[in-house]
Amino acid sequence: MKKITKICCIGAGYVGGPTMSVIAKMCPHIKVTVVDINQARIDLWNDSNLEHLPIYEPGLKEIVAATRNKNLFFSTDVDAAIDEAELIFISVNTPTKTFGKGKGQAADLKYIELCARNIAKVASTDKIVVEKSTLPVRTAGAIKNILDNTGQGVRFEILSNPEFLAEGTAIQDLMHADRVLIGGDDTPSGQAAKDALSAIYENWIPKERILQTNVWSSELSKLVANAFLAQRVSSINAISALCEKTEANIQEVARAVGFDSRIGSKFLNASVGFGGSCFQKDILNLVYISQSLGLPEVADYWEQVILMNDYQKRRFAENIISTLYNTVTDKKIVFYGWAFKKDTNDTRESAAIYVADALLEERAHLSIYDPQVKEQTVFRDLDFLNTRTPEENRHLITVAKEPLQDVKDAHAIAILTEWDEFKTYDWEKIYDKMLKPAFIFDGRRLLDKEKMETIGFQYYTIGQV
Ligand code: UDX
Ligand code: UDX
Repeated sequence: MKKITKICCIGAGYVGGPTMSVIAKMCPHIKVTVVDINQARIDLWNDSNLEHLPIYEPGLKEIVAATRNKNLFFSTDVDAAIDEAELIFISVNTPTKTFGKGKGQAADLKYIELCARNIAKVASTDKIVVEKSTLPVRTAGAIKNILDNTGQGVRFEILSNPEFLAEGTAIQDLMHADRVLIGGDDTPSGQAAKDALSAIYENWIPKERILQTNVWSSELSKLVANAFLAQRVSSINAISALCEKTEANIQEVARAVGFDSRIGSKFLNASVGFGGSCFQKDILNLVYISQSLGLPEVADYWEQVILMNDYQKRRFAENIISTLYNTVTDKKIVFYGWAFKKDTNDTRESAAIYVADALLEERAHLSIYDPQVKEQTVFRDLDFLNTRTPEENRHLITVAKEPLQDVKDAHAIAILTEWDEFKTYDWEKIYDKMLKPAFIFDGRRLLDKEKMETIGFQYYTIGQV
């Protein structure tokens, strides 16, 4: 197989954008074109002001600055990019279905199918098509079927190359990947395609970290990796509830447990609950697949990880309500953080949304501040739940432009995201402005309990009394 010199990526989102930027940076000999049907998003990727990039990731704008319009291009001309490329990444979103069969669990593959049909329609030369989006097992088969039966006689090889980057550390994760996974057929042409993709990564990833598997193993491994990570968070969160009923301290427990080299210390931070576009979706996918294949015990086992996460978010909201004398009606509660974790402007499945929803149902007034999330995103997230009308949401919520904007006379502050800047706020000044007694509910174990109590706060955190 000849060396790849032109690639294209369909979908300029949280995965496609950073991944292609890093490939362009590490492979100056490859022309990388990122396409998206969303003109506004592409315009932002092309904006001369790099502060306007549609995605916030530490280190991203520097890479875009160094490569854009040299060997990295952003465009809405999907067809031209497909036809020109030798290798095409599909990196469109695969939301959980909100209707029909598999509602609430199965991934909606309509965008993937549209991409496959579009590739089949315009491709006039042989292509390697790479699934980058996380997909339920056996999707590659569907893509292959569409390509082989609707194409213009050109040959397609389908690879699965799941993304393991975490938002907020995407650039680091891509530059220093633990492993790169490439799944493909074991036929000679499949092997050649795997090697061609591997050669791209070999420009900066040591070859022993590039694993080749069959397509199904690769697809399933992605779901399993996320399910295992989410399971650790749910496990430690389950123990946090136990700690709050005893004198045990979750941080001490996590540390003691994590020191066991067989267990390890990562992903043991108790929190208000995990969020993000992947964990919940991928586990639901696993649950759905298990059910469809007649394995209800397997489905129930993994579903419990999600149920525990729902419980943790609910528990946090209920603690706020009961501590504030069983009523939050017309009380002002300030939220610090809306993103699903620090260093990202992504809010998909953020725990903040569900905690806010529970408080808003009690007619609390919320002021929400997040250093990277826009006002329109906060309202979109809450309107999407359909629990209240958009008018009611706008009546009950303000989105603050700066952190101290609404702390005057606030009853409580809730910390939902672990942004570093929250640690350096002038908490004494904040305390002075708030109504007394002043409460903090720290959903991220971000602040120092003793210090906050010395200032005068009534401080509640996860897994510690
Ligand atoms: C990724 C992965 O692809 C998904 O599988 C994973 O589970 C979550 O992360 P992400 O990059 O975060 O998705 O999604 P998003 O930021 O929504 O970007 C997808 C982009 O694809 C959007 O900009 C959308 O406009 C674009 N798109 C979608 C197309 O260009 N064509 C389509 O047909 C559909
Ligand atoms: C995840 C996977 O880590 C990544 O490999 C995959 O490809 C995409 O999904 P991401 O969703 O970006 O990445 O975030 P991640 O860092 O995994 O965090 C997920 C959620 O778990 C966040 O809400 C985070 O705050 C929470 N979390 C994480 C905890 O509550 N405690 C922890 O100890 C770790």
